[in-house]
Formats: sequence, structure tokens, C-alpha cells
Amino acid sequence: MKTISILGIYVADLAFFADSIPIKGETILGKDFVIGPGGKGSNQAVAVAKAGGNAKFISKIGDDQFGKMAVKIYEDAGVDFTNVIQAKEHATGAAGILVNKVTGENAITVVPGAAGKITKCDIDIATPTIKNSSIFLTQLEAPIEVVEYALQIAKQNNVKTILNPAPAAKINDKVFQSIDYFTPNETEVSYYMGHAVNTIEDMEKASNQLLDKGIKNIIITLGSKGAFLKNEKHSYLIDAYDLKNKVVDTTGAGDAFNGGLAVALVEGLEIKEAIKFANIVGGLSTTKIGTANSMPLRSEIDNYL
Ligand code: RIB
Repeated sequence: MKTISILGIYVADLAFFADSIPIKGETILGKDFVIGPGGKGSNQAVAVAKAGGNAKFISKIGDDQFGKMAVKIYEDAGVDFTNVIQAKEHATGAAGILVNKVTGENAITVVPGAAGKITKCDIDIATPTIKNSSIFLTQLEAPIEVVEYALQIAKQNNVKTILNPAPAAKINDKVFQSIDYFTPNETEVSYYMGHAVNTIEDMEKASNQLLDKGIKNIIITLGSKGAFLKNEKHSYLIDAYDLKNKVVDTTGAGDAFNGGLAVALVEGLEIKEAIKFANIVGGLSTTKIGTANSMPLRSEIDNYL
């Protein structure tokens, strides 16, 4: 079975649900508090496995309670964690997530902990896993020089790459040529342009600039508005699927989208169909609380195909 290797961080998510997200200096009373597995890379690996893909995760965790939660979700979801180093000298990281219970919107501070200590040497050890995969998927929460190094290894070995540039950060110009699929949201694409990207016209222009840098496909995720695709041949907006279910928590929806996209591409779907599949996976994740725990099973996704 074709595999998808994923590099990124695992942290424990500490999520606080209230009627609003507090502003600076404000204290509010919350309604719920949930601890669960998180970290964009880890969430994406779980999304891949639950959507029916063969996920191999590359990361570092601590030998502690939060780390044990990671192992449990990988065993439950079927993620291969042979390349997840359990380091005694570092503590597993955590994310503080404030969720607006009314709209499902969030604000996050993430401290990568052990996962932030992953090195190029660790990537050298995981290189056979990257080389033998069909797709390599990563984000920008792990140390940037390590992410760039791994992307280049993937590209040199003809492995298709997806970079979800979250959170947005400066990337070495020469690394853009190693990216087959670049999946920013509106905030992230605005960061790379240096100005707000809101309209379809803005997205066209932004995508053209990114294509000129050597990226093959730009997919801008737009939440409930769907996703915008631009490559050499196509340029269009793909609507989000109306799931008719209430949105309770949008945290991790981008991770669900990226995991779904990787699975659909590995299964050989054309780009438009792959984005539709990813939109369904992303949408379904917003109907449940949590991040890794809200990733839909393939049987749930298939109901909408
Ligand atoms: O994308 C959502 C994730 O971002 C959360 O799980 C949190 O841990 C942060 O990494």
C-alpha cells in the first residue's frame, strides 16, 4: 500500500470553551475544558490514517503523560510511529486553545516542547521512510531548517510534497521549488504576500507569484467558503460541502483538510476531486470537539462522496 509520511509536531491540546474568546486583559468564565492529542503534524497523520491512508509519522515526544496520550491515539487510529522518537531529556509540548463555543472559532498558543527539538540527524534516520512514501506532508511548527531539509530530501527522491505553511513563517526561496502542493489559509497567504488577500482576484495574483517561485499547485483554504486552486492549467474555487451539521469546533479543520488531500492524491484522484474529498474531511472535523479526536473515519467520509 502506498504510504504518506508526515513530519511535524505532537503536543497535548488544552482547550477552553466559552461564549467568546477573551480580549487582552479580560477574564471570562468558561463552559468546558478538554485535554486531547494535538499538534498539526500529528493531527494530519491521524487524519490520514482515519481516512484510510497508510500514515507514517516523524516526530519527537517526551517520556511523560502527554507523550503516552500520543502513543494511544497512534495505536487507536493506526498511525505508524516507528519514527516518533521518545526522548527522555525533553518534555512533551502543549497548546493552549481558546474556543468560542458559539462560532467554533479559536485562538491558539503552541509550545512544541520535545517536538521542537527534532534535528536534521533525526531526519537522516527517517530518510528511508520519506524515500519510500508516495507523498511527504509537513507544516511549519517543527524547526524550519529541519522542515526545509526534509522537503528537499523528499523532492530529490521524487516524492510528491505538500507543505501546509502553518503557522506562516519565512521559507528559504530555493525551497519553494521542492513544493508540489502549498496549502495556506487566507491569513497565511496574506503573510507571504505582505498584504491582505481577500478576493478571488487577490488569490489569482498571489498564486501567480507563488507559482513563479516554483511551487506547482497553490490551494488556498477558505473554511466554509471552500478552497481556491491555481496551477499551470487550472484556476477555480471549489465550494465547501454543505454537511448540514452544526459547527462546534473549527480547531484542526486545516489539518483534516491536508490529511484528506494527501489520501485522495495517493488514491489517484484528480486535483479537483481530491480537493472535494479534503473539503469533506475538513468539514466533518468541525462537527466534533477536539483536533486529532475529531478526524472522521473513512466510513463517515464515504457517506458524503
Ligand atoms: O491545527 C490545530 C493545532 O494547532 C492544534 O492541535 C494545536 O496543537 C496547534 O498545533
